[in-house]
Amino acid sequence: MKDVLIAYATRTGATREVAETIADELRRHGLTADVREYADASDPEGYEAIILGSGVRMRRIYKEADRYMAENASTLIDSPTALFTVSLTPVVDSRHGEERSKALLERIEECHPAVTPFSAAAFPGVFRPELLSAGEREILRIMGAKEGDYIDEAQVREWAASVAAVLVR
Ligand SMILES: Cc1cc2nc3c(=O)[nH]c(=O)nc-3n(C[C@H](O)[C@H](O)[C@H](O)COP(=O)(O)O)c2cc1C
Repeated sequence: MKDVLIAYATRTGATREVAETIADELRRHGLTADVREYADASDPEGYEAIILGSGVRMRRIYKEADRYMAENASTLIDSPTALFTVSLTPVVDSRHGEERSKALLERIEECHPAVTPFSAAAFPGVFRPELLSAGEREILRIMGAKEGDYIDEAQVREWAASVAAVLVR
């Protein structure tokens, strides 16, 4: 049995970066970690634990993340899982960002009863205008987002270390 599968969905690379950082931190704690986009992740059955990640658009995770959670429910229900989102809510909404990010994580669990994460986190992502259409950029500007890379590597590593601490027990 392999240790950890980190499956993710991304549009502009932020969730991939977060997934790779999580994998690196898990390896530093002596675990093996495979990082795969959902399309390449196949069946999570061969893993001790599964970490599910997705970027967020229009207050929803990406459809391939939803699909994977639905299609692999029978394996996920019996596996230790952890969950993370990557979005700009924590950046643009200083007053309610934490609350809203938590609400989204809870909604994912409600939509996918097989996903009962022992840990869940909402990380800040990126606004990379060069990778977006004019319409997409406009949506982010209306949200109040400013161009930039808000990924907090230390925060991601801290969470990954806490996940590792549960898994190596
Ligand atoms: C069209 C569009 C809609 C978005 N909607 C939301 C949203 O509803 N809530 C949010 O927090 N972030 C939203 N974002 C910001 C993304 O979550 C952020 O850019 C994140 O880094 C995306 O991750 P990815 O690069 O892995 O795809 C949106 C971004 C775009 C381009």
